[in-house]
Amino acid sequence: MDQLVIEGGRPLVGNVKISGSKNAALPIMCASLLTSGRNRIHNVPDLRDVRTMTKLLTMLGAETAAPQTNSITIDTSNAEGIEAPYDLVKTMRASVLALGPLLVRHGQARVSLPGGCAIGERPIDQHLKGLSALGAKIDLDGGYIMAHAKRLKGAAIDMDLVTVTGTENLIMAATLAKGETIIRNAAREPEIVDLAQALNSAGARIEGAGEAVIRIRGVDEIMPLEHSVMPDRIEAGTFMVAAGITKGELCIANPPLEHLTVIIGKLKEAGLRFQQTPKGLVVSARRAPRAVSIITGPYPGFPTDMQAQFMALMAVSTGSSVIQETIFENRMMHTSELRRLGANIEVNGSVAVVSGSRHLTGAPVMATDLRASACLVLAALAAEGQTKISRVYHLDRGYEYIDRKLSQAGAVVKRQAE
Ligand code: EPZ
Repeated sequence: MDQLVIEGGRPLVGNVKISGSKNAALPIMCASLLTSGRNRIHNVPDLRDVRTMTKLLTMLGAETAAPQTNSITIDTSNAEGIEAPYDLVKTMRASVLALGPLLVRHGQARVSLPGGCAIGERPIDQHLKGLSALGAKIDLDGGYIMAHAKRLKGAAIDMDLVTVTGTENLIMAATLAKGETIIRNAAREPEIVDLAQALNSAGARIEGAGEAVIRIRGVDEIMPLEHSVMPDRIEAGTFMVAAGITKGELCIANPPLEHLTVIIGKLKEAGLRFQQTPKGLVVSARRAPRAVSIITGPYPGFPTDMQAQFMALMAVSTGSSVIQETIFENRMMHTSELRRLGANIEVNGSVAVVSGSRHLTGAPVMATDLRASACLVLAALAAEGQTKISRVYHLDRGYEYIDRKLSQAGAVVKRQAE
C-alpha cells in the first residue's frame, strides 16, 4: 500500500485543472448497459473506482477500451452477463448502479448486496422499493439481490428519503420501461442531471432531472451514448480549501461554478477571496480563516462529501465552529486523525465542535475513507513539519493524480510504498 509524505507549512501557488466527476462518470458508465453498441464517454477521470467499474462491465461481457486519456469506449453489443459479484461490489458500492440497467436489459439481474462501509450502513432499500414499483420481483438469496421482470412498467414512485444512486438506478430502469414513470422526492445532485443529459442525447425522454420530481417516458431502445462528463465539483471544492488552508493562491481553470455556490458562499464567509479571471477562478487567502459553522444536506445543501475537507479548514480557524453531518451516521472518523495533527475537536454523535488552533503539527496519520483522506492531505499541507498519510488507496478512488496536481502548485509531497 502507498503512503503520502507531505512537508507542510508552504502556501500553494499555481494552476489546477479539475478532472471529470467520479460520481457522474460511474452511473453514466452503467447506463451503457441500456444500449447495444459502442458507447463513447469523454472526460472520464483516471481513478481506481473508474477502473473497478470498467472491470465490472468487462465481466458482464462489454468490450472496453481507452483510446485516449480520459476517454473510454464501452461496446455492449455482447454484454450478456447478469451478475455483479460480491468480490467486486464489496470494493465499490457504486456497483449497485448496474442493478437497474441489468434488470431492464435482460429481465433479470443478480447483484451482491453492497454491505455497509466505513461511513455507514448505507442500505439500498429505496432502490429495491422503486424497482418493485416498476414491476420487478425482488428476492434476497445468500447476500445477493435476485431481480426478475419480463418488462418493467412505468409507475409513480414516492422515495421515502433522498438517495443519489437510488434516483439514478430508477432513472436508468425507467428509461426502457413501458409507459411513464414519476419519481417524487428525487435527489437533485448535478451528477443526476449529467446522467439524464447523457441518456436524453441517446434518445431517452427524461424531464425534471435536478428537481424533486422527475418524469421519464419509457422508450423501446436508446442509441449508444456519446457524452463528456461534467467537472468534479467536490474536487474543485477540495482545491479551494487547499488554497485557503495554506494561505496561498490557486487558479482553478474550469470549476463548475453553478454547482459550487453553497461551498463558495461558506468559504467566502471564512474569508477566502475569489476572483474570476480569463484563466479561471483565482482562490486565495492571506490570513487564517474565520470560524464558520455548517450543516450538510442533500443538494443544493452543503455537500456531505465536502464536510471533512471543511473541517480541516476550521481546524486552523480563528474561532469555534459547529459541523453537523446529517447524511451518513458515521462520517466523523477523520476527527481522531485530525487530533493527531493538533486539531481541537469535540465530537458528539454527528456533531463536531471545532476550536481553531493557530498551528497544526505534522504526524503519521491513517486514511479511513475517500473524503477523510482528502481532509488529512489538506491538514498536512498546513501543518508544520512532516506528515505521513497511510492507506492512500482511499484517496486514489476519487482524486485523479492529486499528488501531481499539488506538487505542480508548490506542495512538497512524495508518494512511496508504506
Ligand atoms: C452518493 O452515494 C455518492 N456516491 C456519495 O459520494 C455521496 O456521499 C452520497 O451520494 C450523498 O451525496 C456516488 O454517487 C457514487 P445516498 P449514495 O443513497 O447514493 C441512506 C464520495 O465520497 N439510504 O444518497 O450511496 C444512506 O444510508 C461518495 O464520492 C437509505 O437509507 O448515497 C445515506 O444515509 C461517498 N436507503 C443517505 O440515505 C437507500 O436505499 C444518502 O445516501 C439509499 C440510501
